[in-house]
Amino acid sequence: MGHGLIDRLAAAGRPIVAVDIRELDAGVRAKCRSAYVGDICDPGLLERLHAQYEVGEIFHLAALLSTRGEFAPETAHQVNVGGTLNLLKLAAEQARSHGQGVKFMFPSSIAAYGMPTLADKRANRLVHEDRFLHPHTMYGINKLAGEELGRYYQDHYRKLAQDRMPRPIDFRSIRFPGIISSDTVPSGGTSDYGPEMIHAVAQGEAYECFVRPDTRIPFMTMPEAIDALLRLSAAPKERLTRTVYNVAAFSPTASDFERLVRGAYPGAQVTFVPDLGRQAIVDSWPEECDDLAARRDWDWSPTYTFESAFGQYLMPKVRARYATA
Ligand code: SER
Repeated sequence: MGHGLIDRLAAAGRPIVAVDIRELDAGVRAKCRSAYVGDICDPGLLERLHAQYEVGEIFHLAALLSTRGEFAPETAHQVNVGGTLNLLKLAAEQARSHGQGVKFMFPSSIAAYGMPTLADKRANRLVHEDRFLHPHTMYGINKLAGEELGRYYQDHYRKLAQDRMPRPIDFRSIRFPGIISSDTVPSGGTSDYGPEMIHAVAQGEAYECFVRPDTRIPFMTMPEAIDALLRLSAAPKERLTRTVYNVAAFSPTASDFERLVRGAYPGAQVTFVPDLGRQAIVDSWPEECDDLAARRDWDWSPTYTFESAFGQYLMPKVRARYATA
């Protein structure tokens, strides 16, 4: 998401300071005023940033995703919660030093939800922001913690301090569904079967899908996700009735992915070999999210249906990508 977001922010003429754990590609780096290789868990790095820049807005995209987090839960907590806390503190210190609130954009996830059983998931198709908030994964727990910490820094930070600055942070968060990009294949997530299937088949590889064909969770395309983030960021604060919003585009089953992939690549070799652990994670995520508040408060609406996402965005771009690779 970072690369696409940098494209959009740079095109709008915004000066960007990027921080990534890996060196950015030269093309992406060229769009930034500066780019740092570093870890958000390193307080020294954040102190340097605080000393050197006047920050107006932070897009905090760094996290270990849900599958990786189950192999290293404590590390996931350190990065996902510890890193978030460090950045919230940076934002609050920035606000204090230049006397103005800092906007803090936090992508959360459908992983914040935890449907107790598959029967509950099927009986409660459309899930509102305030329901089923008992996630089954460390990643989901970390995202919920990030949402709550953001709300705390915005509304209650240093509540008892004499020299307290009211509202140092303007915190805004979106619970994203699985995201599908034509450019990158995610790693370490549990919604990865969708994008993995598309990219594998487009390269002529067989794909073994790790969830059952009837598995259904929400997805959206990467351009829509970036658009949502920018749209929420640009919304007048007085219209916002919550700090955390669902957004929704389409909710295909894994067999819907197979059907469209086969339509585009008739020789596709896709099989379903469920991994029980990863299946249980996806079964704990809702089938659909109720995005009424986002539609009402900041005019959210998706660009694509599942079919048009394939036909108009994914297939043309993925074909072009592997034709020239
Ligand atoms: N895509 C994420 C994952 O699979 C969920 O937000 O972990």
